Amino acid sequence: MTFRQARWEEPLLWEIRPPADGGVDPAQAPEVPPELRRRKALRLPELSELEVARHFTRLSQMNFGIETSFYPLGSCTMKYNPRVSEVLARRAGVADVHPYQPESSTQGLLAMLWEMEQALGKITGLPHTTLQVAAGAHGEYVALRMTAAYHRDRGDTKRTEVLLPDTAHGTNPASAAMAGFTTREIPSKNGCVDLRALEGALSENTAAFMLTNPNTAGLFEEQILEISDRVHSAGAILYYDGANLNAILGKTGPGKMGFDVAHLNLHKTFATPHGGGGPGDGALCVGERLKDYLPVPRIVKEGRKFHISYDFPRSIGKVKTAYGNVGLVLRAYVFLRAHGEEGLRRVSERAVLNSNYLGMRLGEHLPRPFKPLVKHEFVLSGAPLKARGVRTLDLAKRLLDEGVHAPTVYFPTLVEESLMIEPPETESKRDLDEFVAAFLRALNDTPERLHASPMNLAVGRVDEVRAARDLILSWRDMEKAAPGAGRSHATAASPPGVASAAPSDIPNPSVGAK
Ligand SMILES: Cc1ncc(COP(=O)(O)O)c(C=O)c1O
Repeated sequence: MTFRQARWEEPLLWEIRPPADGGVDPAQAPEVPPELRRRKALRLPELSELEVARHFTRLSQMNFGIETSFYPLGSCTMKYNPRVSEVLARRAGVADVHPYQPESSTQGLLAMLWEMEQALGKITGLPHTTLQVAAGAHGEYVALRMTAAYHRDRGDTKRTEVLLPDTAHGTNPASAAMAGFTTREIPSKNGCVDLRALEGALSENTAAFMLTNPNTAGLFEEQILEISDRVHSAGAILYYDGANLNAILGKTGPGKMGFDVAHLNLHKTFATPHGGGGPGDGALCVGERLKDYLPVPRIVKEGRKFHISYDFPRSIGKVKTAYGNVGLVLRAYVFLRAHGEEGLRRVSERAVLNSNYLGMRLGEHLPRPFKPLVKHEFVLSGAPLKARGVRTLDLAKRLLDEGVHAPTVYFPTLVEESLMIEPPETESKRDLDEFVAAFLRALNDTPERLHASPMNLAVGRVDEVRAARDLILSWRDMEKAAPGAGRSHATAASPPGVASAAPSDIPNPSVGAK
């Protein structure tokens, strides 16, 4: 399939038609008291609905999404979000409910939340759940605050250190630091935790060990029961990062493996939209050690009625407005109910099969540093490309030109020039075969074209270092960095961070063509 991304020279809404005579005069609602009414007209561009719809549709065409292409972003479980969940979550009975309206009028939603908590408790084997955490990273932070409270309550005040394997996702040490802990990295041996090194690091200062299983190399930590035993003997908490739950759904769970607490990324495993800091959602499931510290409010069932209770004196308190992102929980609930127990098992079987099929096929072309059979994702090394003056980053950028999203690159860090690929269960064999063909076209392309990629996207290769350092996230930032740049993409000097992102800087597709 040939891919050419749309490339609109799309102006800002302000540039299409700025407010001619001071802006839009919104209809005055009669019930707004005069002293609260706006004195000046609202300075908004004066556009018709159609103009606005076209603007945003064009912008969306210059983007990647799961509904246009395969998204093999390792560790992110980018699966299709079923339409039925969207339809149900947008019904007035969900979307228009006010979080603080009387409980008697929200019994249906409370019942759904309660059932979801029970279901996730069963899936994880950790029966006490909160659905208030907004994402995986938020779950990590909340759990570590609960861990601190647990140790404090036992008078165990020396426990200030969190241990993590060198395959840990970056949010793990970041959350630990935010929760006030210091961190120490435990090296891996053949991609899994080095038990000896862990034993050597555990002490009366250890508050928790954070681990994901299968880990970010796609490997199941087979010594998990020994790990759990060592961590608990040292008096520490064992934390499960549930980002990789898709690999073990219905097969095993963190409770069985000895974990005390697990975050789940509902936007990964349970197919709700990914947040990117926005409306993601998570869950935190805990066992007996930590249950008293769960955030409030909690949903309590009394007879056939549900109510929201703050009556948990050892709770760490509130971590989110109201009861969290309820619309997203509902989407995940629909996913769970639609699949049922057997369906969830098939989800993980299919995800693991996809990963092994793709891993075997691509492993014929680039080294796979770990054992051949993996779980839901696998790692390749782009190190041999260096002989041709090419890096993993170039390969990832070239793949974009094939119309697929790039895999995760340079993570996990223990593999040189790593690429991490995760093909969730929603991808068919045909999709995977098309990806293999695209991957090989990219791999075998000339160094010149690999360096110049992406060539047929709306945006060329950005200066990632500058983009990260000099963040330009709004029109105002752009105006500050390079006055005038926000008004005319084609002619203005590029501000830092978007140096090569302006359409005028896009490499000519013919450059370096074979
Ligand atoms: C292994 C792992 N842990 C934690 C996270 C953080 O999760 P979230 O993005 O939901 O905050 C991720 C995200 O990709 C991850 O892959």
